[in-house]
Amino acid sequence: MPEMDASTKTKEYFLDIPQANDTFFLKGSANYDWGMKNRLSRIFNPATGKTVMLAFDHGYFQGPTTGLERIDMTIKPLAPFADALMCTRGILRSIMNPEAGSAVVMRASGGPSILKDLSNERLALDVEDALRMNVSAVAVQVFIGGDYETQSVINMTNMVDRCNRYGIPVLGVTAVGQELTRDARYIGLATRILAELGAAFVKTYYVEDFPAVAAACPVPIVIAGGKKMTELDALTMARDAIDAGASGVDMGRNIFQSDAPAAMIQAVRKVVHENMGAMEAHELYLDLKHA
Ligand code: R5P
Repeated sequence: MPEMDASTKTKEYFLDIPQANDTFFLKGSANYDWGMKNRLSRIFNPATGKTVMLAFDHGYFQGPTTGLERIDMTIKPLAPFADALMCTRGILRSIMNPEAGSAVVMRASGGPSILKDLSNERLALDVEDALRMNVSAVAVQVFIGGDYETQSVINMTNMVDRCNRYGIPVLGVTAVGQELTRDARYIGLATRILAELGAAFVKTYYVEDFPAVAAACPVPIVIAGGKKMTELDALTMARDAIDAGASGVDMGRNIFQSDAPAAMIQAVRKVVHENMGAMEAHELYLDLKHA
């Protein structure tokens, strides 16, 4: 039997203050359940509404990508600077530190290697295993316009159905085939389809006319870095993307293939979370690199 409430302190019901109906900070996410919101709040910083995700899942189809040959040496030191780590379960379990605080966005689709048609993916992760790893979201690649377009869309909707049972957000990743034009019309089509079909947030590429893409996508968009470019160009792209309505970056090669990856991710953080201009962030990058 619990003890009686024997406190002599006067009860305080704050009768003149109605209980607040809190809103949720993230675009398109106000109607989710508590667990989904909690997981999204670990990826997106509630203070800024933005995220810096570090992507190093490239090995799932292209093996030991340049900069990812020894993830224990190159990526592990960067983890403290990332809001979320985007990786495979193999790398998470074999190398990454479970005591570190970053959220995990787990790669959940795969199948073909670079030797085959990449759009022929299947789901490659069970939700139960995602829960076991305490992930904050899972990521499924969708190939709009690809040979296996419908299969990849159904991969994502199946994952959304399974993950909704447990409050796990699904990141829909738009994959652009070599033969497809990476422009606002295509990216706008792909991002909208993924959001319509249940992605809680979408990853895509920054393109001209991005404000229209972001406006027409009802959930947050994070920007992939793409092929390595100069640090200034990558920081400029991040700045432009945030200004155009992106909710963060999910950047890989432009961080881990930089001459100074730790300096680069810190500069990217300033752009995304502190509204720093690209030139100033580049100066910071150079300072940190030479420090
Ligand atoms: C590619 O398929 C992977 O999903 C990467 O996570 C994604 O491309 C982002 O990395 P990067 O910034 O290198 O393009």
